[in-house]
Amino acid sequence: MINKAIKVSEHVYWVGAIDWTIRDFHGYTTKRGSSYNAYLILADKITLIDTVKAPFKDELLSRISSLIDPRDIDFMISNHSEMDHSGCFAELVKELKPEKAYASTMGVKTLANHFNFTDEIIALKTADELSLGNMKLSFMETRMLHWPDSMFTYLEDENLLFSQDAFGMHLASSERFVDEIDENIINYEAATYYANILLPYSQLVLNLIEQVKNAGLDIWIIAPDHGPIWRKDLGRILELYQQWANQKPTSKAVVLYDTMWHSTERMARAIEEGLIGGGAKAEVMSMRAHHRSEVVYELLDAGALIAGSPTLNNNILPSMADVMTYLKGLKPKNLLGAAFGSYGWSGESTAYLNDILAEMKIELVSDPIKTKYVPDPDSLTLCYNLGLKIAEKLKEEL
Ligand code: FEO
Repeated sequence: MINKAIKVSEHVYWVGAIDWTIRDFHGYTTKRGSSYNAYLILADKITLIDTVKAPFKDELLSRISSLIDPRDIDFMISNHSEMDHSGCFAELVKELKPEKAYASTMGVKTLANHFNFTDEIIALKTADELSLGNMKLSFMETRMLHWPDSMFTYLEDENLLFSQDAFGMHLASSERFVDEIDENIINYEAATYYANILLPYSQLVLNLIEQVKNAGLDIWIIAPDHGPIWRKDLGRILELYQQWANQKPTSKAVVLYDTMWHSTERMARAIEEGLIGGGAKAEVMSMRAHHRSEVVYELLDAGALIAGSPTLNNNILPSMADVMTYLKGLKPKNLLGAAFGSYGWSGESTAYLNDILAEMKIELVSDPIKTKYVPDPDSLTLCYNLGLKIAEKLKEEL
């Protein structure tokens, strides 16, 4: 294996690892794999920014070795303590013995909690600066984006922002730069990443974009910890982040359901017809055919979430419990909604779904619609009318 480093700017090289086969990232399906990006700055003080997931340590070391002897690294900096970036940080501090190792104030604690290692890590806080001799780094803590320890590092001399998870995506590729990859793939993977990782912190994202603007940083390159590097048209990803963080609804409604004997499915299709009849766009998603990560991607620009399940053992189907738990944690905003489903005798599912939608602070536009066993024409008309009503309300809100 060759594992060469790849030049990012005059003194900065990508020395990370590609995970071609990972398909699950704590519940988020990563259909195109991922990468764990680490960066080497060949300054007077040679500096490594982040590391990689532990099993990829040798790949990291061989890429570094294509440039320098890894024992010549002077400084190591951890921008984020999650294991996909710090998995071999503690081990490498011990092995390579850099002159100094750094993390954010919270990062120092988190690294200690994870690795129980006592080597001194120096805490950095917002506005701190670190001289690399011929260059200089500055730091910005980005707490809860998306962990308490998260931090940005800025290399002013090369207008380069090391943004850890922010502006990243789970995408394994032979190319290292966004502008070398199909735009549709970039848009889809960046949005899916935002929806599955950053959505609950959207207000903090908006605050951070303001903070970065106010700091007057002249950024030409954004080097995240996953996926390709941004070096052209940076305004585009910043605008997309603002758009996703605002979650301004469109006329799209997501109809999410699972079904036992196709009754709840027929109700979903009647709701879809009502939505279309009212001029809305309907995205009907069966949980037999879709992963929870795809659902949250579709919700990113939706104006409504309509959820359906039949009753099973006084409850909802497990697939619906799974996706609703996931969505609740991600806190999507600005949604209308309603619940629907069929039942045979006790019929608790719709009330159960209704409660979850209410807990998610979704504006309920109707009482739940429930139908006994198989929907009759009246029941399907109720579903159609629900779709119509939601389409009309979406139109009013646009
Ligand atoms: Fe890519 Fe939050 O770790």
